[in-house]
Amino acid sequence: MCGIVGVCYSSGSAEHALIAGLRSLEYRGYDSAGVALHAEGMPRRRAEGRVDDLVAVIDRDPLPEARIGIAHTRWATHGVPAERNAHPHRFDRVTLVHNGILENHDAMRTLVENELRTNGSTWSSETDSEVWAALLRVELGNASENPTVDDMLGAISRAMLRARGSYALAILHDAIPDRVFFARHESPLVVGIGESGNFVASDVAALLEETRDFVYLQDGQCGFVTSDECAIFDETLQPIELPIDTIEWDAESAEKGGYPHFMLKEIEEQPHVVGRTLQASIGSGNQILPDFAIPDEELARYGRIIILACGTALHAARLGKYLLEEAAGIPVTVDFASEFRYRSPMVGQNDLILAISQSGETADTLGAYRVAIDKGARPIAICNVRGSSLCRLSNATILTQCGPEIGVASTKAFTGQLLAIHLLALRLGRARGTLDDRAVEARLGQLRIARHAMEQLVGGAARDHVARIATQFAHKPIYFFLGRGPDYPIALEGALKLKEISYVHAEGYPAGEMKHGPLALVSKDMVCVVLCGDSPTYEKVLGNMQEVKTRGGTVVAITNEDKSEAISMADEVIFVPKTDAFVAPLLSVIPLQYLAYFVALERGCDIDKPRNLAKSVTVE
Ligand code: G6P
Repeated sequence: MCGIVGVCYSSGSAEHALIAGLRSLEYRGYDSAGVALHAEGMPRRRAEGRVDDLVAVIDRDPLPEARIGIAHTRWATHGVPAERNAHPHRFDRVTLVHNGILENHDAMRTLVENELRTNGSTWSSETDSEVWAALLRVELGNASENPTVDDMLGAISRAMLRARGSYALAILHDAIPDRVFFARHESPLVVGIGESGNFVASDVAALLEETRDFVYLQDGQCGFVTSDECAIFDETLQPIELPIDTIEWDAESAEKGGYPHFMLKEIEEQPHVVGRTLQASIGSGNQILPDFAIPDEELARYGRIIILACGTALHAARLGKYLLEEAAGIPVTVDFASEFRYRSPMVGQNDLILAISQSGETADTLGAYRVAIDKGARPIAICNVRGSSLCRLSNATILTQCGPEIGVASTKAFTGQLLAIHLLALRLGRARGTLDDRAVEARLGQLRIARHAMEQLVGGAARDHVARIATQFAHKPIYFFLGRGPDYPIALEGALKLKEISYVHAEGYPAGEMKHGPLALVSKDMVCVVLCGDSPTYEKVLGNMQEVKTRGGTVVAITNEDKSEAISMADEVIFVPKTDAFVAPLLSVIPLQYLAYFVALERGCDIDKPRNLAKSVTVE
């Protein structure tokens, strides 16, 4: 949902850092890109399309050297993808980049037109973001030609009072050549403190080449960076000190490292993700989640867990229902965050509310979470980004150790989330007395086995085998993914991956439900991917598989070497190592991710940047 970056070097040219930052932020949107530098005449270059398109424009029409600048990569909301709607937007002497939505942009547009006695011809774009620049111009009033730093801060804080909606802004003024101003509300924004200067960006990945020291801004805050200073203020312009957090991620973790796509790299990182998350989450004496901030006595008293999430994280949540209910004997409900927030949910002090989000910035997840918190539920989270809005709202967080996930289609974050749920289930089970120490130890053993078994599924022959099957079926128009029990959420995830990146119609379905409708769709054009490893429902799934086969469907079975009936019935088989049924999803999702990847590759799709999507959806 748009990525912004601002650079304030003490010397040298900001252009490279701005473009590098945009490349890391491109997962947030790639409808257009643009950059402005603080030099004579505030030069800017903008292009419809990708950062590469912007670079081509700059190559044709180079920018002057300047040590300060701002840049933007766009996921279009207001105004079609076009150069005129690309950021940075400029109004009079104010130039800015914006991530978010100015919800009252119509009213603000009228206000600007009245205050400045202009008319509709004032505008050069259809965006709400241009209105933001104009609003700042209005708030600067008589000082607009030559404002002081205090004038600018005053204008920003007054504009923040008028604006409704979400925003992360990086702002330049022609007359103030040494700094980038910023403001945030509900859209993520971090300040990077570096040796060569100071920075702002939508996330830390954009600045990893510059620094690992970050300040996470909070809602309602504004301020500025110069090359050697960072000042942050609250809504009333009182200065505030925020802690500096040093993160472990390095610049390589946000690069492709020789892989053709981030998605492939991230699929193959999964055994390490699980290894790292396990290591970080188990203390001495098999203490589970030693840093989880809610004590066992309190955890034991909640009557229900409600899980909220979107997209892939929602599928992790659906699997969480099986894991938590089985291990901890606690009722679990799972909800689309986007639905939960707009009904009258029955939630209160007896509930733990668990939000799952890779980014910790998904607007729907945060909105629903706030509703539950307001109603008295105790908020806990599973998240991959330290310092994110979700982490800040939560009383206790399990941080997945995935490193930056850049591919729009989530892969390693999913396995990180599954592992985190397993660990939460063990912690809760022990707290509630449904698991004794031996049971916890045995389950930890299963997770360690699964972590090693994952190694057999990535790279080499395992990858080549799925690639061959994908090539064979890549042009089939419809896919069904079937599973029962804990395999059902994996089926949902397999279908989501395929439709996201290869644009093939795919559905995940509980295998037993096929006979209640979807069986009518079975034909020779349909590929049915069936998850049928060890589980109490294995024989039932075999029956469901038979129903598809006898109606002419093609079956790809995901199973283990012991399952001779499934093997002989299927047209193609993908083997996963035999493991405990509850940890098996950590394994069986990997071939499904590969399948989506190789189908998309065969169909010539843009794997890391699928059409119409963005990774971090910070608008509703
Ligand atoms: C978008 C992404 C998905 C992701 C979902 C939730 O839809 O394309 O890959 O699963 O958002 O994101 P979150 O950061 O909250 O996990």
